[in-house]
Amino acid sequence: AQDRQDIYYRMHVEAARFFFKNLQNQPEIRQYLYQRGMTDHTIRTFGLGFALNSWDSLLKYLKAMNFREEDIVLCGLATKNEKGKIYDRFRNRVIFPVFDQRGRVIAFGARVMDDSKPKYLNSPETPIFHKGTNLYGLNFALKNSKEKSLIIVEGYMDCISLSQAGIKNVVASLGTALTKIQARLLKRYAEEVYISYDADNAGQMATVRGLDILREEGVSVKVVLIPKGKDPDDFVKSEGKDSFLALLDHALPLVDYKMQKAKEGLNLRSEEGRISYARKVVEILNELDPIEKDVYLQKVSEDTGIAESTLLSLMKGGTEENRPLEI
Ligand code: CTP
Ligand code: MN
Ligand code: MN
Ligand code: MN
Ligand code: MN
Repeated sequence: AQDRQDIYYRMHVEAARFFFKNLQNQPEIRQYLYQRGMTDHTIRTFGLGFALNSWDSLLKYLKAMNFREEDIVLCGLATKNEKGKIYDRFRNRVIFPVFDQRGRVIAFGARVMDDSKPKYLNSPETPIFHKGTNLYGLNFALKNSKEKSLIIVEGYMDCISLSQAGIKNVVASLGTALTKIQARLLKRYAEEVYISYDADNAGQMATVRGLDILREEGVSVKVVLIPKGKDPDDFVKSEGKDSFLALLDHALPLVDYKMQKAKEGLNLRSEEGRISYARKVVEILNELDPIEKDVYLQKVSEDTGIAESTLLSLMKGGTEENRPLEI
């Protein structure tokens, strides 16, 4: 089976070379990347490419190199339809090769250059690619950064832009759902993780889920707050490297982030607001270790004017004596 795997890895490198060459031969397509602020050096470093607007250019290329049709389909580079016809999976899209930690090409992401859908098309599950087990950019981060922290972003472009701006300790979860396996990878390589997802609804929901997964794996984590509507790529391009570094500096520790979320939409100057806040916060406090509990209990008490003893009585393990009767 090992020799099979070797064939799949070789096929992916050859495909990446093919896509890369296509891009080098098409200045109009490179314009798309230049417009998005990418340099030639970045294009080369990340091995970006282009899938021609054709049904079989890659298929023909790989077959001419003696790769078997069934292997090409198995690797998701071509698709077989109901009629048994085989055609290239990626057509007329900019190509982002996905590397593993060791720098081997294991999959591809492919972006349209206009607003058509889906925006990205990715390799399916294959013998060498399992979604959610990999962190995009980890090979580059490990090679180019001495930082003890890693920044996790959503997408290809976020990762590439930050890296081009000189922030090299960045990886992408590719899509919004961070997995346990990715959390463990992060823990292995970083003492601290900054979660820097898009400042939109999907990104914020993913941040909350991601936080819990990271916490369960024992990762020390902070949340980077990007201005509404932007993602790290947009932000670093418009505001520059130092502004992004400032965001990292002001990133919120997990608990502070959760407490801030709990405050959203509530008016703490009103009684109702303070009561709702206290109830939400109790749930957050329940998850903490005793020392954290102590610190944050005081904070919340100051915010709400509710006595620490009262908050404590609402919490799990609050003693019978000080638990209000109705609970
Ligand atoms: N994604 C995907 N398939 C989609 C949409 C998104 O696989 N149809 C993944 C891609 O890895 C993408 C990431 O989710 O990079 C984040 O999605 P999104 O924020 O929508 O895209 P951006 O990375 O911001 O892409 P761009 O800046 O090119 O618009
Ligand atoms: Mn496997
Ligand atoms: Mn997004
Ligand atoms: Mn985005
Ligand atoms: Mn983006």
